[in-house]
Amino acid sequence: MAAKHLEVPEDIFFMLNPNYSNSEANSNLASLSQYVSINLTKLDHNIEAIRSCLAANTQLWPVIKDDAYGHGAIPLAKHLSSLVHGFCVVRSSEGVRLREAGIRKPILVFEPPDERSISLFSSHQLIASVSHSRHLGLLETGCSYHVNIDTGMKRLGASVEELPRLLEVIKKRTDLRGEGVYTHFFQADDPYSPTVAKQLDQFQQLQSHFPTEWLRHTANSGAIFHYSKHLSLLYDAVRPGICLYGYSAGKQAIDLLLPILSWQSQLVHYQPIKIGESVSYGARWRAPSDGWIGVIPVGYVHGLSRLLSNQMKVRIQDALYEQVGSITMDFTLIWLGKNQLPVNTPVYLLDAQRLRANIWALKTNTIAYEITTRISPIVPRVYVF
Ligand SMILES: Cc1ncc(COP(=O)(O)O)c(C=O)c1O
Repeated sequence: MAAKHLEVPEDIFFMLNPNYSNSEANSNLASLSQYVSINLTKLDHNIEAIRSCLAANTQLWPVIKDDAYGHGAIPLAKHLSSLVHGFCVVRSSEGVRLREAGIRKPILVFEPPDERSISLFSSHQLIASVSHSRHLGLLETGCSYHVNIDTGMKRLGASVEELPRLLEVIKKRTDLRGEGVYTHFFQADDPYSPTVAKQLDQFQQLQSHFPTEWLRHTANSGAIFHYSKHLSLLYDAVRPGICLYGYSAGKQAIDLLLPILSWQSQLVHYQPIKIGESVSYGARWRAPSDGWIGVIPVGYVHGLSRLLSNQMKVRIQDALYEQVGSITMDFTLIWLGKNQLPVNTPVYLLDAQRLRANIWALKTNTIAYEITTRISPIVPRVYVF
């Protein structure tokens, strides 16, 4: 029998992620044995959930770095453009791709500017993040920048020791456009951390050295949802990341949010198995009874961590089935029990209900951020309403 392709819902707004125009992705598209689908209605819902924590005039600067945490920066930026003030990315090259895709909103780049990337800031109207006076030295006349102040993360941001020198250079470089000052919380994912208030205190003092018309911003997802009710940390703008995609920054779930990503594949093969027989490399699972093993064409090359072997479930229609045996590079096995399900049966790996990335994160000792960013570019992304 000729293989039927995985069915794409009719209302789909189908779009191969333009960031990934390699031939592998295109050939996947032709056969569609798996795809990630991003639900833009749920994204709108999450934007509303974020807005419900903010004052009416707080600006939204969504963090769509690293291809929007694996969800696809360009399609998401296109969808969000009319709803937000600006975007945050990590590399200037990401800003360039957004500009080339027609995004006109302000784009703040987190990574410090360097000699190789500096011309991109003026040529593509990107906003630099300045953590040191030497960064100001690099910027070309007319460039915009925000000052990043370190209040404890010790990653990027100007140290307290560096600030006087930085302020001196700011006064001299009147040919540049200083527009903002910000800091980043390192423990706002924990609703009970005393560090957030401490960082905020420090920021509150240090930001007073900067012109009043500059934008001030501190809040990431954790700060917005766990702290904005009792600490005045919203200032003029917020930089939500993981919450856009429907996940909480830490262990405490945020019920208001809906995961926007689901990952669907299909059975490409099935095998009978007898009680006691093993499956896959290393014989790490044996059948508890006679039954059927199903095979999906998804493996660790696609971003399905091998650490999930024997630890995850998939959904077929409304029932959950156990994944069994070692996840291999390109294929993963499912215990179907007595159900001899046909080839092409749709199989969900992740969805917005029972199969969430934070469950995988707990089982593999990581965070939802790593799960979604690890889904390989060779898996096509489709966008649905
Ligand atoms: C400077 C900065 N602001 C905001 C964010 C967004 O953080 P989250 O995804 O926890 O909301 C990040 C993410 O790494 C960041 O580096």
